[in-house]
Amino acid sequence: MERLQKVIARAGIASRRKAEELITSGKVKVNGEIVTELGVKVTPSDRVEVDEIQIERESPVYYLLYKPRGVISSVSDDKGRKVVTDFFTALKERIYPIGRLDYDTSGLLLLTNDGEFANLLMHPSNEIEKVYVAKIKGIPLKENLKKLEKGIRLEDGKTAPAKIKVLSVERKKQTAIVELTIHEGRNRQVRRMFAAIGHDVLKLKRERYGFLTLAGLRPGDARELTPHEVKQLRAAALDKKKNQQKK
Ligand code: URA
Repeated sequence: MERLQKVIARAGIASRRKAEELITSGKVKVNGEIVTELGVKVTPSDRVEVDEIQIERESPVYYLLYKPRGVISSVSDDKGRKVVTDFFTALKERIYPIGRLDYDTSGLLLLTNDGEFANLLMHPSNEIEKVYVAKIKGIPLKENLKKLEKGIRLEDGKTAPAKIKVLSVERKKQTAIVELTIHEGRNRQVRRMFAAIGHDVLKLKRERYGFLTLAGLRPGDARELTPHEVKQLRAAALDKKKNQQKK
């Protein structure tokens, strides 16, 4: 038995608070009857409708994928390119990626069918650390890396401070490998940050997401998150949210 607002939120229709509003405003039916009280609990076999549309009631699942390069972070592609859900064809639940990695970026990507969880992790106030390793063209100047560390102006605003570590430099080839830790998730953020200091990104990989790593996985491999990992991620995101609200 689960609370109705939780079931609605997990289906990705609304946040839990908005789900409560949907219930109290009479937009939710359980087995054909309008329910306006918030205490109601439902079983997996109860039929729940929001605005006359039946919601999907799959049990929540959570996966970590080592996304290879050359794959779209989506559930379908109109050009027929490979998508991240192609690695889960045997799974009956309909999962989708939490955020995205570019077509050419490899690395750690989470997928779920839990809309509430996905929204929580994708919320801009969520400061979960993401660690990227970039191979860049040219050898970066210390002063330019400092700019990235402090935050750099991009067309959609200044980035939050980043942590930077130069892992190696190839003087002959004029390339460098740089580790960058950020907690924002803007579109093509890492590529745009390096472009802002004059470097093209030749290769990009996300190595870590919070405490999760790619340990033991090869490109194209996936594993289910443990219930404890899911709890930890949820707690980390909620914690950050609380801290943001205090600020
Ligand atoms: N930053 C990028 O530029 N690309 C990604 O795929 C992820 C972060």
